[in-house]
Amino acid sequence: MPPELPHSEEFVLAFLAEAGDEYVSGEAISDKLGLTRAAVWKHVNALRGLGYRIDAMPARGYRLAAVPDRLTALELRPLLNTHDLGQVLHAFEVIGSTSDHAKGLAEEGAAHGEVVIAESQTAGRGRRGRSWASPPGKNAYFSAVLRPELPPGRAPELTLVASVAMCDAVRQAGVPAGIKWPNDLLVGGRKIAGILTELAAEPDRIQWVVLGIGVNVNARLEDFPEEVRPEVTSILLERGEPAPRALFVAACLTALEEWLDLHAEAGFAPVRQAWRERSLTLGREVLVRTEGREIVGTAEDIDERGALLVRAGGRVEQILAGDVKLLRPVPLRDPG
Ligand code: BTN
Repeated sequence: MPPELPHSEEFVLAFLAEAGDEYVSGEAISDKLGLTRAAVWKHVNALRGLGYRIDAMPARGYRLAAVPDRLTALELRPLLNTHDLGQVLHAFEVIGSTSDHAKGLAEEGAAHGEVVIAESQTAGRGRRGRSWASPPGKNAYFSAVLRPELPPGRAPELTLVASVAMCDAVRQAGVPAGIKWPNDLLVGGRKIAGILTELAAEPDRIQWVVLGIGVNVNARLEDFPEEVRPEVTSILLERGEPAPRALFVAACLTALEEWLDLHAEAGFAPVRQAWRERSLTLGREVLVRTEGREIVGTAEDIDERGALLVRAGGRVEQILAGDVKLLRPVPLRDPG
């Protein structure tokens, strides 16, 4: 593990990160942080020594051009502008599953927003008992502990909240992802991200939720096991250049927190609308596997609880849990 950053370096880095692509003057940094110009220069050089690329231009100042491609607290903490998510960060080089670890922490009383992140997983889990390919040092694998004030019956809403937030983060990275119900992110029919929602609840309240999120960021097809290669893609493969993972994870946590806040304030209605707008499922013919049954029909909508509504054989089936296969788009009816 790399050494911890001394506080002043962390502050200089956070200041530069907040400015994004803009230059900030040495004077602005020294005024804001109460440092001498010489101290700012020293901290910039120390950060460069740790692998941060910081451009310097006379009369314009400094600009954060690149961060090291590692996902430790050292890289992530200064990039986070969240109030809860990731403020307590448990970072690992290798772990069985970030979600298993987060569940253990939740049972021991972890606070809302604690995040477990790892460079690789040896037992990454997907939905419905599947495994999640987790090649080292290429992608993003993280799990957030949430303590929402919601009755257990509303927990499925959080899965859709997370899918909308991750869709936004992947789109911000320049990749036009969409959502397959309930929460798979696909590009060109291939999976780029998945979300696993697990929880513990009493009859009338949720104790904790763990949102486990995996995004294929910089992996190439050969990094994945052969059997999943036809079904997966990554940000690198879609846009042709790698994404800085720490910045991407920070953007994921920001998007997730913004959507969770909106959901807590305004309820499910705005999330439902946002989900519809990002959906790849609605208006398609689908094959749904649920509770030992298979249903083929047209995905018409999601209801006010997030269930998928599928019209099949003259009636509308409400699907609360299951696996959806997209078949073909349903042709628009000729109004004449
Ligand atoms: C799916 O689409 O099946 C959900 C995949 C979720 C994978 C993530 S990676 C981080 C977290 N840890 C796990 O073991 N699983 C989730």
